[in-house]
Amino acid sequence: MTETEIKKGLAGVVVDYTAVSKVNPDTNSLLYRGYPVQDLAAAKSFEEVALLLWTGELPTAGELAEFVKAERAGRALAPNVKAAIDLLPTNCHPMDVGRTAVSVIGANHALAEESSPAAELSKAKELFAAFPAVVAYDQRRRRGLEVVEPREDLDYSQNFLWMTFGEEAAPEVVDAFRVSMVLYAEHSFNASTFTARVITSTLSDLHSAVTGAIGALKGPLHGGANEAVMHTFHEIGIDKNESREDAAARAKTWMEEALAAKKKVMGFGHRVYKHGDSRVPTMKAALDKMIEHYGRGEMLGLYDGLEAAMDEAKAIKPNLDYPAGPTYHLMGFDTEMFTPIFIAARITGWTAHIMEQRASNALIRPLSAYNGPEQRAL
Ligand code: CMC
Repeated sequence: MTETEIKKGLAGVVVDYTAVSKVNPDTNSLLYRGYPVQDLAAAKSFEEVALLLWTGELPTAGELAEFVKAERAGRALAPNVKAAIDLLPTNCHPMDVGRTAVSVIGANHALAEESSPAAELSKAKELFAAFPAVVAYDQRRRRGLEVVEPREDLDYSQNFLWMTFGEEAAPEVVDAFRVSMVLYAEHSFNASTFTARVITSTLSDLHSAVTGAIGALKGPLHGGANEAVMHTFHEIGIDKNESREDAAARAKTWMEEALAAKKKVMGFGHRVYKHGDSRVPTMKAALDKMIEHYGRGEMLGLYDGLEAAMDEAKAIKPNLDYPAGPTYHLMGFDTEMFTPIFIAARITGWTAHIMEQRASNALIRPLSAYNGPEQRAL
């Protein structure tokens, strides 16, 4: 009998076509609907990128204005979404809050069970507008602070930071946040997107698919890595008064010990990119600006020290979560809120894939090779 070939973790398996994004590990490039992600991050708003991912084209000025108007009007949370969040303990993981909130938003939707392209797009746009308020509401309740209502005179990123911190963020901070949202928006058949596509393939609804995707994103091998990166920084110890060189030296020692103990260090490595994540240079530039803005050279020391030691020992490169984690930390978010921010961004990619899956659906149902006991009598 021939041995069945098992593709553990589906590594290297191509399961379907997608026109949403193209990852090319040989050239370290990532295209959203044909546009290099670094070009989009340099020149486009997150709202424009969302429309690009959903529709396949950048919006005209009129299309963008119409979407922005609806997005600004759709930011407030429904009372039962707030009530559902309030039922959850403040020491639960914020990803649990995000997962629950999306479920309630789905249950509220008038077209919840309708799956026409127009209905799916309206659900995607509604989630896009409302999810930042989930993150901000949860961050503030954990800090025992009053809820800050959204403002229609602010753009998506400005308003996200406004609702979270209750003050208008500096333009540099808003821009770094926007860049992170653009970079986090989409990444082909990653674990959470594939989860969303599997759920959609059963003809289940969009909110169920997004809820499942959030569960997949939570894990530290995927989106949870941005939070885990910050835990590493805290474990090493952040001392605002330390010199960049001293911080780098301590980080290097920490990494050498971690690798000697065969630890997996979050924020490094990637299933697809083996020579570096295409998104890292753009996010690192945004982090550098935040380090300069907040005057926190020691953070750069920690960053460089870990990166250099990993490169020297294993030649493994950082992924997007590595610069994103300290960026959100400097902005003032609690560490556990980093992955919910990733949800807010990836809602765009997930829902684009859900619509694509719906348009040419085949039930995703792979096979397994049985290796349990042979048939036996009771
Ligand atoms: N730290 C230490 N060693 C590593 C790491 C790491 N972060 N990543 C890979 N390796 C080693 C691994 O131990 C293995 O070594 P050996 O062959 O000696 O056993 C080798 O590299 C191959 O690793 P793998 O885990 O089999 O490779 P993979 O393609 O299955 O893993 C990965 C990809 C992302 C799961 C892995 O690199 C990892 O666990 N990284 C840390 C988690 C992380 O940062 N995830 C975020 C991924 S990208 C953005 C996102 O989705 O949010």
